Amino acid sequence: MEKPWEGRFKEKTEELVERFTQSVSFDKRLALHDIQQSLAHVKALKSSGVLSEEEERVISSGLQRVKEDVEKGTMEFAKELEDVHMNIERALIEKVGDVGGKVHTGRSRNDQVATDERLYIKEEIEKLQRELKELRRALVSLAERTLDVIAPSYTHLQRAQPISLAHYFLAYREAFLMDSMRLSNAHRIADSLPLGSGASAGVDFPIDRFQVAESLGFRSVLRNSLYATAERDFILDVLYACAVCGVHLSRLSEDLILWSSEEFGFVSLPDRLCTGSSIMPQKKNPDVLELVRAKTGRLYGNMIALFTVLKGLPYAYNRDLQEDKEPLFDSLDTLRDSIAVMKLVLEGLSVNEERMFSCAGGFALATDLANYLVLKGMPFRQAHKVVGSLVGYLVEKRKKLEEVSLEELKHFSELFDEDALKLLDPRIVADRRKTYGGTAREQVLLQIENAKREEGMP
Ligand code: ARG
Repeated sequence: MEKPWEGRFKEKTEELVERFTQSVSFDKRLALHDIQQSLAHVKALKSSGVLSEEEERVISSGLQRVKEDVEKGTMEFAKELEDVHMNIERALIEKVGDVGGKVHTGRSRNDQVATDERLYIKEEIEKLQRELKELRRALVSLAERTLDVIAPSYTHLQRAQPISLAHYFLAYREAFLMDSMRLSNAHRIADSLPLGSGASAGVDFPIDRFQVAESLGFRSVLRNSLYATAERDFILDVLYACAVCGVHLSRLSEDLILWSSEEFGFVSLPDRLCTGSSIMPQKKNPDVLELVRAKTGRLYGNMIALFTVLKGLPYAYNRDLQEDKEPLFDSLDTLRDSIAVMKLVLEGLSVNEERMFSCAGGFALATDLANYLVLKGMPFRQAHKVVGSLVGYLVEKRKKLEEVSLEELKHFSELFDEDALKLLDPRIVADRRKTYGGTAREQVLLQIENAKREEGMP
């Protein structure tokens, strides 16, 4: 197969080199974006008088036909033609004849590939944002269901303080909201047009880049042709945003994996989302969550891979940049699936309220007992010590905090009265955390209402 650049060459390309340098096996994903930009490009070539009206009409209709082939899946991509750009150009020439060869006037694959990628990223982020929103909605629904479920919160994976379980789910909703902001940021950064930068220095045809930007829906035009063709920083932003979202998903997975163990017994997953063991008949494993947790490693890996490709790379374009695509595609695919799986898990989750409540009390109430003394005038540091000794005493006696008598309390401080015993209820204790952002029922309810409004939920 004839290569677009073969004029300069006397030898046929080595088969291994062809295989090693090709990118079409993966960049064919960009085919529709490539056609979209070619359509805008030929329009600009016509406006500036480089193409006649007739030529533009023929090329555009040819591109439309190539597009149909891509959409139908009948377009054949050849690795001899290296990448998606040269494949589309060849397909166009096959449809409309030599005039198709005019499509690449005033354009290089260097500004072309960057343009395709930016178009692709914008579209993918918009999809991802919708899926993230669905995930957040699932969390808000769970929060509504669990407003009155009292659970332990953990620090250092030791029981810390009682909370409303809704408060926990809303915490993750916040995290996924920040992920959306990071993705919006990446979208904003990708939203500028490279086309018209040529191979590195700009182009010598009078193309109106602002017109091209407008017809492709870019918010602005990149102002430096070297930067436009050399950089993949905008992809790093996407990979970073994906990696952070992955961290959130993996931490949530880890909690749910722990909570669904017999030891915790806080939640269970529906059978349809679990897998079994080939040898142990009793097993019902949360494999999907384990995989979500593990796939975060790929998201980091993809980010580090591109950072490494870019480091020390001479300005402007180098073929190294071709290695940006697989990490990008993989991160977007991986994150999309992980979000979808997590959403299913949350929707199917059942909560063992009694078990959670029974773990929310005990020494998790100790802070409140100390605060009781504070309200009676004792400095907090001293109160901490008093209650600390009480806890030590009860541990030795193998008694729970709820089982303490007023007499015993008084032994540690004269300031304790009958009403101190009433404090020893996780529900009451949780309800006392009334600061904005705290776990008191009224605050959590407020946050649920806010969240529902922000997520457009009825
Ligand atoms: N497949 C290439 C890439 O992904 C397209 C640009 C190639 N440009 C070049 N001058 N070889 O980066």
